[in-house]
Amino acid sequence: MTGLRGWRAELVWTLGDPTADEEALRHVPDGLLLVEDGRVVAAGPCGELSQGLPPDVPIETLPGRIITPGFVDAHVHFPQLDMMASPGGALLDWLERYTFPAERAFADPAHCKDAAGRFVGSLLANGTTTAMVYGSVHKSSVDALFEEALRQDMRLIAGKCLMDRGPEGLRDSVEGGAEETVALIRAWRGRGRLGYAVTPRFALGSSPEQLAMAGRILAEHPDTWMQTHLSENLAEIEATRAAFPEAADYLDVYDRFGLVGPRSMFAHAIHVEDRALGRMGEAGCACAFCPTSNLFLGSGLFDLERTRAHGVKVALGSDVGAGTRYSLLTTAAEAWKVGQLKGTRLDPLTGLYLAGRAGAEALGLADRIGAFEPGLEADFVVLDPAATPALARRTGAGSLAERLFALMVLGDERVVERTYLTGRLAHSRIP
Ligand code: GUN
Ligand code: ZN
Repeated sequence: MTGLRGWRAELVWTLGDPTADEEALRHVPDGLLLVEDGRVVAAGPCGELSQGLPPDVPIETLPGRIITPGFVDAHVHFPQLDMMASPGGALLDWLERYTFPAERAFADPAHCKDAAGRFVGSLLANGTTTAMVYGSVHKSSVDALFEEALRQDMRLIAGKCLMDRGPEGLRDSVEGGAEETVALIRAWRGRGRLGYAVTPRFALGSSPEQLAMAGRILAEHPDTWMQTHLSENLAEIEATRAAFPEAADYLDVYDRFGLVGPRSMFAHAIHVEDRALGRMGEAGCACAFCPTSNLFLGSGLFDLERTRAHGVKVALGSDVGAGTRYSLLTTAAEAWKVGQLKGTRLDPLTGLYLAGRAGAEALGLADRIGAFEPGLEADFVVLDPAATPALARRTGAGSLAERLFALMVLGDERVVERTYLTGRLAHSRIP
């Protein structure tokens, strides 16, 4: 026995956006994925790859299934798992009435631990193998989340929210926030596949002193990321302008404190000026397109084409709990609907790219995850395109793009039959 294992099925992955470069699509109808020690050894036609393999290599044949790299959720809130589908108004009302009360419960480490198991379980059940996550303001929330992700050997980037201007019971301080952030970085960064994101929640949640502190910590720890919210909602933007009158625009609030760079992930970025988009593109920033959330809160229609035209990297985010599904297949389908409202068309192959490979690129992890290239981490999902009667009728024939489109529009966690982390089965729908 060599430790080498294989899975035989239809294989699909991308190395870039297939709409921009058709060479970026990899599709092998009868494929073999070979994995050893948690890494991809090879992926290609079964007929070719199986020749010359030692006879004791176990190969599992999965007829009718599609294997693709695990999905990447570029923006999701751990402490909001139990308040999805809360009928608030727009962003600021929804935060006050439902979100902040739910996040107060994360002061209790026992609650954090119980929630972390359920949260990571939901990500895996939806085929998400990498996520960039907000904790609550409480250090204990991030400790519990990292502990669970480490136990599963999941690739996860997270941070505690900095919010010294937060509401009663969810407020830290400049010094307290700095101490806890540095303690979390020291305790977790680089263990297993964990990474730390310095997380000023949004401009309205922090004082200028706290944003400056976040910029200093980021500069002192160049292997960390930065995540925050940007230009999500018109009332929020107006309040931000009033709170930071010296800034040229919303992005500039962050820029003045050193928070705009190649490891920065901005969620939403719906109502962004050309100047700011140009600056984000030049600085190598990424943003998270969160269509289920943007529609749920009525925040607005993200302009994918305009954002990318400025050179800004775009990935998909579920934004649970303003987002209404963990599934990045569903999120891609909602992105397509936003395109319809904007008069543009999201190619299904671009949808698949956005749900995985684009997230890897946006996080600077393209050399680790998001494709079946030799040496990359073997995070993958086995999808059943006939998981429901409606899916079975729509995915049995047609081009790859047509079948993937039906999978996104009609699919959700029910099509995710199995999720593998570094070659290990981490979730199975079939007991
Ligand atoms: N802006 C600041 N906090 C939040 C949050 O929790 N969710 C969303 N969607 N936007 C935010
Ligand atoms: Zn968010």
